[in-house]
Formats: sequence, C-alpha cells, structure tokens
Amino acid sequence: MIVKTQQDIDGLKEVSQIVAQCVQVMGRAIKVGITTEELDDIGRDFLMQKGAHSAPKVMYNFPGTTCISINEEAAHGVPGKRKVEAGDIVNIDVSAEKNGYFGDTGFTFLVEPIHPKKQHLIDTTKKALEAAISVAKAGNKLNVIGKAIEQVAKKAGYKTLRDLASHGIGKSLHEYPDCIPNYFDKNDKRMLEEGMVITIEPFLSTKSQSIETANDGWTLVSGNGNFSAQFEHTMIITKHKPTILTQLK
Ligand code: CO
Ligand code: CO
Repeated sequence: MIVKTQQDIDGLKEVSQIVAQCVQVMGRAIKVGITTEELDDIGRDFLMQKGAHSAPKVMYNFPGTTCISINEEAAHGVPGKRKVEAGDIVNIDVSAEKNGYFGDTGFTFLVEPIHPKKQHLIDTTKKALEAAISVAKAGNKLNVIGKAIEQVAKKAGYKTLRDLASHGIGKSLHEYPDCIPNYFDKNDKRMLEEGMVITIEPFLSTKSQSIETANDGWTLVSGNGNFSAQFEHTMIITKHKPTILTQLK
C-alpha cells in the first residue's frame, strides 16, 4: 500500500511493533529441548494478548501462528514436535494483522555452542538487509534492493535463495509490489515510491539457491546440509531513509 493518512502510519506502526516484540519474546524462550510448537504457543499467546491475529493463519490457513524454521528449513516451517538442538540456526518469522493493517518481521537466532561459520552467515545476512535498506529510497528502482543483497552475499561467498522474496505489504500480507527479488533483476522496471510499504527480507544461503516444499505442504527446505538465514523488516519508503516499522522502540 501507499500510506495516505496518519491513521495508516499509526496502524502500521502498532502492528509492526507487536510482531517485532513477539519475535523477541519467542527468541528469549529458545533453548535446547523446547519444541517449535511450544515456541509457537508463546507467540500465539503474545499476539492474542495484544489483539493481533496471525497473518499466515488468517490469509492462508497456515497450521500455526508463526513460522519457525530450523537449519535446512529455510522458511514457512510449521511448528510441531521438532526440538531445538545445540548449535541450531532458528529462524522465527512473525506476521500479523490488527485493525486491518499488517506487519511482518523475521529474525535468525543461533543456539549455543556458537559455531563461527553459522554466526558469520547470520551476521552477513543482517548486513545484506542493512545494505538493501540504505538504497531503498523513493525514486530508485525496486531492483536496487536485490542488487544490494546479492552484492553483500557474493562478496562473502554466499548464495541467495532465489525463490524467496521481499514484498509489498499494508492492507494485506502480500500486495503490490509483489515479489521483490533478493537478487539483481535488470529487467525489473518497477520503482520505489514515496509512502510505499514493503518488507525487505534477504535469505542468504551456504550452498543452495532454490528450495523445495516438504511433505507437510508448507515448510520450504533448502537442501541437505544447507544453512540459510533471514532477517526481515517492514518499512515505509521515503525520499531519504525508510521508516523501519518493525525496529523495536
Ligand atoms: Co515474514
Ligand atoms: Co515477508
């Protein structure tokens, strides 16, 4: 959406702060032996308490409140009996709706003992998000986002998962501009506009560029022995720096 009123801004801010808090509350509960279902229950209770509704559940009938993806799982992991193990990479992605507005954020946690290579992947993914945010200005082409992400990834020797993309958001979880690639697409002529609400969510990966859907019909798996990381913010595009709605206050 393009924000038009203060009400739009306030509504987006409110739900975005709720999802950002939710991810951190869930993240603090990560420990060896906890199941992803138990983590999801914490997220479910938190959203309920804040009067927000899980976006994947409302929009797509996702069988959970939040998406929790571990190691070879890249995204849309269905909460269940899987237990967190030592050294795991755990991605938590929370998106929700409140008063008709949507916010979406993701964060990748590393369980101790910290493996330096996994930490480097996570740190580089954060850098890729920052690099993309710094060029996301009204008047630039949308493809500057993918270009910035790909540059950071390549320089550090990583791939990007090409089937997963950033997206427009606002009055719905996914809306125009749909599918903002996490790699440089020179043919993409779409522009960043003032007031446009988008997510940026790079997925960096050690080996794979593609993903497959698991037997559960939801979880996107990136291949055996592959690790990936994702960070995601929802933001409003301006002529200068975007307003990051999911940055915790
Ligand atoms: Co998300
Ligand atoms: Co998203």
